[in-house]
This record gives sequence, structure tokens and C-alpha cells, in this order.
Amino acid sequence: MSAIAIIGGTGLTRLGSLEIARREVIHTPYGEPSGPVTHGHLFGREVAFLPRHGPGHTIPPHQVNYRANLWALHHIGVEQVIAVAAVGGITERMKPACLVIPDQIIDYTWSRAHTFYEGSLKQVTHVDFTEPYSLELRHAMIAACAAAGIGHVDRGTYGATQGPRLESTAEIDRMARDGCDLVGMTGMPEAGLARELGLSYATCAVVANWAAGRGTGEITMEEVGQNLDIGMRDVARMLEALMPL
Ligand code: HPA
Repeated sequence: MSAIAIIGGTGLTRLGSLEIARREVIHTPYGEPSGPVTHGHLFGREVAFLPRHGPGHTIPPHQVNYRANLWALHHIGVEQVIAVAAVGGITERMKPACLVIPDQIIDYTWSRAHTFYEGSLKQVTHVDFTEPYSLELRHAMIAACAAAGIGHVDRGTYGATQGPRLESTAEIDRMARDGCDLVGMTGMPEAGLARELGLSYATCAVVANWAAGRGTGEITMEEVGQNLDIGMRDVARMLEALMPL
């Protein structure tokens, strides 16, 4: 049983430093997770790893079975979840290839299965989401970045969009007026579902590109790939510094 799990996003289908012990297929009442959970050791620490978009990166953000993923991790005894996610940078500090540990969320997604509290309920439950991310995990990641000398931004508001298309400039302008610093497609309902299960959850966002209208011209997959290559190397270094956790 692993008490800590990493959900990998775009650019982190595999964790190079993970010494794999076994893969576990988990069936859930909510359908199939994105793939088998990989159990192993990362820098000496037992971890579980689940690639959000599937082992071959074929599941788009709006079709990820977030409920099955979180339920599966909770089911095997995971207590802490580090979510790695690619994002677009909206505000000035959110530069491409940079790591960001966001502290707030705005949810713009729609028609995703976003709660465990539905169906034949004994009572209606409203979980607190004042602080959507675990403060303890955020601080641990921030300290790990600092210890490893990794340039990072220690807060920011993550705006979760539906995808899979990228946003228009006007949509990004509206998100900026709302107070969003980052835009990504997977932050919700993942964080909300983690809270419903009582999991400690925090995100390490990797800025893949300037959000629409914030850079020069169109967003290309080439720049996204290049920035993720740099950012994911820093994620691995951050995890190495974090793993005594
Ligand atoms: N928008 C939404 N999601 C993203 C982006 C973006 O610009 N870049 C990486 N994930």
C-alpha cells in the first residue's frame, strides 16, 4: 500500500526515476481509471503513479474518468496526491517552463461527472473548498523547489477550462479579470473529488505556453513540447527533493 500518489499529466506519462514494483488494475463503481496504477519506489519512497491521460496519452481532458481515478487511489490506501498538470500562463509571473504551486481554483468546466455525492443518498453533503489544495502538501512542494534551487511561483489561481480546444483571447481576458493566473483543462473536477474523499491534494503546474493572446501569435505544439521538456525535468528534481516527505 502506498500512502502517496502522483497523478501525471501531459508530459509525465512515465516517471523516469520510478523503480516499478508492480502494476495494479482497479475496477471501480464509477468505471475504469485512466490505466493501471503503477506501484514503485521514487527516490527510495514508496509511491503509486497514475497517468491521467492513460499510458499512451489518449484520453482527452473532458473524457478523463476523474471519479474512477480518485476512487481507485483512495481504495488502495493513498492519502496524499500530487497532481502534475500542464497549464497556460496568463499573468506575468507565469512564464513558460516555470513550475507553479497554485493556491486557488476557478472551475469553468461543464458536464463532467464532478461529485461522488449523487444517486441514492442518505443525506446531502457539501464539502468545504475554501482552500482547495492541501496547505501541507503545497508547502512541502514549495520547500522542495527552494531546496533544489528550482525557479517556481508559490501561489496562483488555476482556472479549469473544458477543452480540448485551447481558449480564445477573449476567454483568457475574461479569466484574467476573474483573477486567474493559470489555465488548464484537468484541475477540476479532480481537486473537488479529492476533497470529497478526504485526500490531501495539491498541484504542481508546469507552464507549457503563454495562454491565448498573452504571447506572440498562435500557440504551437512545438513550444508546448519544448517547455514541458524543461518543466518536467524540474518536476522530477522537485519530487526528488520532496520524497523524504
Ligand atoms: N489552455 C488550457 N490548458 C492548457 C494550456 C492552455 O493554454 N496549456 C497547457 N494546458
